[in-house]
Amino acid sequence: MDRDIECSDSLPPISMTANLQIACFSIHYIIEALANGVVRHLKSSLSFVKNICGQEFSAQSVRFRFVESMGTADIITRASLMGKEIEGWNLRLNTAALMPAIALGTSTIAKSETPEEMRAIIRNGLQAGYRHFDTAAVYGTEHLLGEVLKEVLTSGALRREDVFITSKLGLSDAHLDDVIPAIRKSLRELQLDYVDLYMLHFPLRLKRGKNPFQGLSEDSFAPFDLIGVWKALEHSVELGLTRAVGICNSGSKILQQIAADAKMMPAVNQVEMHPGCLQPKLLDTCKQLGTILMAYFPLGSPGNLRLGEGTSLVINSPILKAIAQKHGKTVEQVALRWTLDHGAGFVCKSRNPTRLTQYLGAFGWNLDNEEHKRIETMPRFMLQDWSVWCNATTSPYRTPKEILDDWFDSDEVNVHT
Ligand SMILES: NC(=O)c1ccc[n+]([C@@H]2O[C@H](COP(=O)([O-])OP(=O)(O)OC[C@H]3O[C@@H](n4cnc5c(N)ncnc54)[C@H](OP(=O)(O)O)[C@@H]3O)[C@@H](O)[C@H]2O)c1
Repeated sequence: MDRDIECSDSLPPISMTANLQIACFSIHYIIEALANGVVRHLKSSLSFVKNICGQEFSAQSVRFRFVESMGTADIITRASLMGKEIEGWNLRLNTAALMPAIALGTSTIAKSETPEEMRAIIRNGLQAGYRHFDTAAVYGTEHLLGEVLKEVLTSGALRREDVFITSKLGLSDAHLDDVIPAIRKSLRELQLDYVDLYMLHFPLRLKRGKNPFQGLSEDSFAPFDLIGVWKALEHSVELGLTRAVGICNSGSKILQQIAADAKMMPAVNQVEMHPGCLQPKLLDTCKQLGTILMAYFPLGSPGNLRLGEGTSLVINSPILKAIAQKHGKTVEQVALRWTLDHGAGFVCKSRNPTRLTQYLGAFGWNLDNEEHKRIETMPRFMLQDWSVWCNATTSPYRTPKEILDDWFDSDEVNVHT
């Protein structure tokens, strides 16, 4: 069913208050047009809206056809693409750059997607409104992201500055002399001149040819100098190869070790975080050091082939289900909202385009204090098994507590599902 809606304001800039629905509705069409490469600039986008709506257009008084079957939440979140005024859509890095709080992950490790499936996920993400893409040398997907980006950037549908690209150092390249060649290789794969964020994937180094996902032994580890590697990462910023540098899988102690020597603090620390895995002390440290925490496995990685039964604990949580019902949201939206409420961003992924769009519905609302307290009563668990990264001889870490001190210091947790 279609119906007409009156609006008496000019469209841009998008406002979360006045004429939100109208603005979002219009933007919805603009987004489609952008995604399809039909238009590039807002001015032509507005005349595109006029054409597509078949209605008289003026800056002061506009009549648009509102398609009721389009959910408002969907439309609102799509608006964030253009408006970037949706509260919390962007997080400000310590470099002053803005980073979309929602990133689309491109790891195939959890579900072994084929290259074609991964290209489709990235294209679906772009179409849904994702502008932050997360890859890594170890995922083997940099070239796939590069191919899709090239299509979009050369078509003129998006400019380089419209997307935020994160990649991560290969695990065998975590050496002072290997960082710059490694980031240059990533840039060749991505077909880009620079990335927006480049991260140390794990605070350790593996020997060449060792794949962490095919089992680790004492023979897998190579000597590792955290500060040497960090200085090389800083140099990659000075060379213009990346706009910011970050770290993953690191607790407060590692961050503080970097802070003692660094010219640049990590802009981001990407760690496991979901409603079953909150690390308040780590969040505090990150805040103090000006580092943004980015959550991976934000939904508990349901169906992850590498992990155990624990992966359904988040999406099957009765607490999250009850909260979702109360707000008219999905469990996934509640879990993602919970992350944003902690001032963190998240990296998610889905082969399902409907889910990808639904995840954007994490923006534009809040959980209240009582709901946060209920979520804190959920069972505590971490999915990653950190013991495989530790040994008494060759790993820089004898125990998981030396990697993620905040989590393993806490007594209330069941450390691994
Ligand atoms: N820095 C690091 O060390 C590190 C480590 C791990 C991951 N990451 C990053 O984080 C990204 C996200 O990881 P992730 O994909 O495991 O996280 P996730 O967002 O927690 O899980 C996504 C998975 O959940 C499934 N899912 C969602 N709702 C579901 C439901 N209701 N029922 C069943 N399945 C459901 C999706 O399946 P469908 O595809 O079928 O929708 C998708 O495969 C990765 O791609 C990677 O970029 C980084």
